[in-house]
Amino acid sequence: ILERGYVRPKLPEINTLSDVVSLLRNSENILVLCGAGISTSLGIPDFRSEGGIYERVQARYPFLDDPQMLFDLDQFLVDPRPFYEFAAEIFPPEEALRKPSFCHRFIAQLERSGKLLRCYTQNIDGLERAAGISRTIFCHGSFDTLRCVKCNRSRAICEQDRHQIRRGNVIYCERCTGEEALHANDKRSSLDDGLASDSEDSCGSDGFDPEPVMKPGIVFFGEPLPQEFFDSIEDDLRRADMLLVIGTSLQVAPVADMPRSLDASVPQILVNREVVARARIQFDVELLGDCDFIVRLIAELLGWSDKIGDTERCS
Ligand code: APR
Repeated sequence: ILERGYVRPKLPEINTLSDVVSLLRNSENILVLCGAGISTSLGIPDFRSEGGIYERVQARYPFLDDPQMLFDLDQFLVDPRPFYEFAAEIFPPEEALRKPSFCHRFIAQLERSGKLLRCYTQNIDGLERAAGISRTIFCHGSFDTLRCVKCNRSRAICEQDRHQIRRGNVIYCERCTGEEALHANDKRSSLDDGLASDSEDSCGSDGFDPEPVMKPGIVFFGEPLPQEFFDSIEDDLRRADMLLVIGTSLQVAPVADMPRSLDASVPQILVNREVVARARIQFDVELLGDCDFIVRLIAELLGWSDKIGDTERCS
């Protein structure tokens, strides 16, 4: 699918906002690809903008050669504290979980209208789940599960964990540290999520005996994307009749290669504050500006404003 140097020609009939609205009205298999830009209105910084995560990491941890090291698995295994100290800044605040952004709620409305083929999100804040978008692939994982790097036991995140993460505290494996009995009640609630797996094999690096730290279920650099991404992507790229990219700089493969893996006839729309500088990607329409504002305008033109509204939790 990825032909060397090929750039898809723009579709001549798709040029304006009203063309985009007609497309949305007539499409039934919309592929949404979103990034950190759809959560910034909730106070969650994106990665590469001024004042974003990487700029903050660089300022706080100048010893890191590259701010992305904060999300590097080997670095985490050696010392999880910088990650956990910083996680508090990217972990969704309570009010965001209660009321995701207008973009999240618009994507949920696409699903309720039977138009959403799939939402591929690069975000780890889990707000697509909070917005009730069930057809979501969390390409870079999420904070919703935790796994011990020593005994490999995984479980759903619980309120006590959220409390810890918002305070920048490292979360340790209660079983390995022998504290499990102390939290029997909490454990029962999180184990009920059916995510507990007791496989004994450690998942730390060979020969290195890591602290029994719980690693959030986000995809660190050095880790593979979730299998569900690979199980869905080929068929979804074949079935999509429209691509809507919202709030991402498209810097990280393989997600960033999705637009140029689509058939040239599939219309591609960008909603973002800035153009996307990625080789061989050509959108038919680039709606540049604040994504919540643009998507709210689109929703009004679709006659969806009352369906989405500003109500609390969508699901
Ligand atoms: N409205 C529109 N666009 C916005 C808004 C907004 N309110 N806020 C931010 N943006 C845009 C920025 O201009 C930028 O182009 O969203 C994009 C966010 O880009 P990044 O910060 O690079 O975030 P993202 O594309 O999601 O990063 C992808 O990189 O480091 C990895 O794993 C990390 O998932 C992340 C991946």
